[in-house]
Formats: sequence, structure tokens, C-alpha cells
Amino acid sequence: MQTLLNDVDTHVDSFLDDLKTALRIPSISSDPAHQPDMTRMADLLSTKLHELGFDKVQTISTKGHPAVFGEWCDQPDKPTVLIYGHYDVQPVDPVDLWTAPPFEPEVRGDKLYARGAVDDKGQVYIHLAAVASWFKSGEKPPLNIKFIIEGEEEVGSVNFKELVTEHKDLLGADYVLISDTPMLKKGLPSIAYGLRGLAYLQIDLVGSKSDLHSGSFGGVVANPINVLTKMLASLKDDKGRVTIPGFYDDAVEISAAEHDGLSKLPFDEIEFADAIGAPALTGEAGFTRLEQLWARPTLDINGIWGGFQGPGAKTVIPAEAHAKLSMRLVPNQDWQKITKQVLAHLIAITPESVEISITPMHGGRGYLAGIDSPAIQAAKAALAEGFGTEAVLTREGGSIPIVPMLAEVLNAEVLLVGFGLPDQNAHAPDENLDLENFHKGIRSLVILYQNLSELKPI
Ligand code: BES
Ligand code: MN
Ligand code: MN
Repeated sequence: MQTLLNDVDTHVDSFLDDLKTALRIPSISSDPAHQPDMTRMADLLSTKLHELGFDKVQTISTKGHPAVFGEWCDQPDKPTVLIYGHYDVQPVDPVDLWTAPPFEPEVRGDKLYARGAVDDKGQVYIHLAAVASWFKSGEKPPLNIKFIIEGEEEVGSVNFKELVTEHKDLLGADYVLISDTPMLKKGLPSIAYGLRGLAYLQIDLVGSKSDLHSGSFGGVVANPINVLTKMLASLKDDKGRVTIPGFYDDAVEISAAEHDGLSKLPFDEIEFADAIGAPALTGEAGFTRLEQLWARPTLDINGIWGGFQGPGAKTVIPAEAHAKLSMRLVPNQDWQKITKQVLAHLIAITPESVEISITPMHGGRGYLAGIDSPAIQAAKAALAEGFGTEAVLTREGGSIPIVPMLAEVLNAEVLLVGFGLPDQNAHAPDENLDLENFHKGIRSLVILYQNLSELKPI
């Protein structure tokens, strides 16, 4: 093992160069203009898997962007891990706020900056580097490894879900390993045992067939922006609770044991608020910040637009108002059921002076796993060795829609071992990957594959 880890140290710069090559491809899944880049990125990954010595390497097409698969299954009596990740990235706007162009990866200080640096190309490449290290050692990996890297995670994995059901035998594994989450803080390796789910929709209100002079009409017609803001404001009460009937019915409650566990984690509210420039934090009354963040559902307006936004003043009653709304969900809340409840509630509170249309966009279930499986122990030991610090068990507020499905369809245990950091700026300008995490992440995974190989196949 020591030789292997020394090899990681020797090759870490070339592993980083590989990652930079991937980061130069603007694989933004939501933007049809980047379709060719999605193909280029999938090709790059399949070439990489070929080079590493993987078999059955294939680009599996979907109704949307393709996913890339490869396997190396030469250890018949050993367990199989499926490594899942995503090669698609979020859009880069507002691009002016980036220090350097988002698709020209740049090392500044101890971080690598680029869109996708941490979410999720950087973390996919940590696995590719760990696997490469095993091959370079001449020893070959100690267990069977499959990769599935999709291109639609950032847009809800809608088509990928079909792929998973269709190809469940090809993807079959004992463990699913995913690096697409942050650590609780720098130097503190983390294993996430839960994720929140999501339901996302768009609301459009129309009050008249075109904009109106507010002097000639103001006072007698509904202003869709006034109506929409009032409706949206009513969706949460002043205790931070969502007011949609039935919203909390199925939500899994936080057990006393979990409350205790989460309370022991190092979380500094002031530091957290300062890092994001927030004057203070706020959330649902009766819960700790980490509970609010990880284990309680919530509702947010993600965007709102309409009316006059040019320079100066314009006396107008806008014809339309629009908003994007999403809810973070917790395990057991069914996103389709929640979507129906929101739809019914919004329709019920819409006054007859405007017309509403609601477009559900996507969603996914939350995820919650046990915390004392042999695989979690294996991950703890690997991270402790790789980082020199005991790992903590966390949940996460973000969503990876395919996770509950992978666990269910493949009947496999999912391990979320991520190497991001709270200040990684995922989805924002100056997204970055901590270079120490890149290096220690590779070392940890090299050890993790070994530790998992010693477990019984499930
Ligand atoms: N890597 C994130 C998920 C994540 C974010 C985990 C923060 C833990 C903390 C993933 O790429 C992501 O952004 N997911 C989306 C899913 C959505 C588009 C369906 C999310 O959470 O908004
Ligand atoms: Mn991600
Ligand atoms: Mn993301």
C-alpha cells in the first residue's frame, strides 16, 4: 500500500493535468448550444476509461445527454463497486464575476478554479486517478470496478433514470461510490448518510393581454406581480414553516439519537454566515441550523421576473409575472405528491383576476442510509488514513436525484464520500477545488478500494 500511495504522490500533477483537460470542455447540460460539448466530454471520458484498461466501455445514449460506462471486473470473488458521477456542469452566469474565464482552469493559491472543478468533474477525476494508481502499481485493482458518469445530473437526471432501469444488470454492483458532496470543513473528511430531495416548478400569471398604462387602469385591474408576490409570501409563515396543506405529512422526523449526533458536529454559525456574507442566519423555529439545513424540508423562490426593469421609471401595470419555485424535501416525502399539493394550493389561492399556469420541471427523492454498515466503517478507516483525521458523518442539504434509485434498483449500498468544501462556490462564480483535497482524496480512495475489497459481496 505504501508504494501505491507514493505513486499517487509522484503522479498527482499529471492527474491534475488530466482534470484540466476535462475542465476546458464547457459541458453545460441545460444549454442546447452546448450539445457538441456534451458529446466531446463523453468521448473524452470513454477514451480515458479505455486507456485505463476498462472493458465494455460504451457511451450509452438517452433521450437527453449520454452517459459513459466502463468496467473492469477481473476479481471474481471480490465485491463490485459502481462509481457514479456526472460530467455535466451548471451554467456560468454571471460570467463577469469570475476572476478568470470559467473554462480556462487556473491554479491560484491552493485551489484549482473552473466550472466543474468540484461539481463534479474534479471529484470524478479523483476516482479516475485512484483507479489509475492501482493500475500503474502493476497490482491491478483489488475489487471489481464499474464507472457510470452521466450528463444530466444538473438538470434532474430525468432521462438517466430510465437508463438505470434499462441497464440495471450492466450497472449491477454491491456498493455505489459517489463523490459529489462537500466535507463539513477543511481538514475534516466527511461521509454523508443523507441527501434532501427536490421538487421544482415554474409559475406564470397573466393579468391582461398586454402591459397597461397604470394611470388609466391602476386600481381596477389586478397587477400580476402584486398578486404573485402576495401568493408566494403566503407559502411560508413567520416561524419559517411551509403553509401548503399536507406538506409535512410524510416527512421523516429527526430522532433523538440523530439530534444528539448532529449536535456534536463542529458547526460555527457565525463563521458559516460570514463565509457567505450573510448578516445572520434564519430558519424553521425549533430546529438546529444543521437540522434546518440537512433534515428539514424548505421552500425557496429561485427566481422572479416581470414588469419594468429598465433605467428610470415607467408607469405600467405588467401583463405577466413569473417565478421559479423549488422545495427541498426530506426522506419519505414523495416529490410527485408534493408537486400535486403545491399545484392544488396555488390554484386554490389564485384570485379570479389573473390566470395561472404551473409547469412542474423536475424532482427527486431524498435519501437516508444507516450509519454503521461495514462499508461506512471501511470508508471511515480509509479517510482517517488518507487525511490523518477521523471522518465525521453528515447529511447534506443538496440533492442527487439518482441516489435513492441506484440504491433501490441495484439493491446496493450507496456511499457518499465527497471532497468538496463549504467555500467551493459550486454553481457560482469562481467554483474551485481544494488541491489538498484532490491529493488526499486520491490517497483515500486508493485505500477505500482496498478496504471495500475485504468486505463480503452483498
Ligand atoms: N453535487 C450536487 C449535490 C449536492 C449539493 C450535494 C450540495 C450536497 C451539497 C449536485 O450536482 C447538484 O447540484 N444537485 C442539484 C440537483 C438538482 C438540479 C436536481 C441540486 O441539489 O440542486
Ligand atoms: Mn454534483
Ligand atoms: Mn451541482
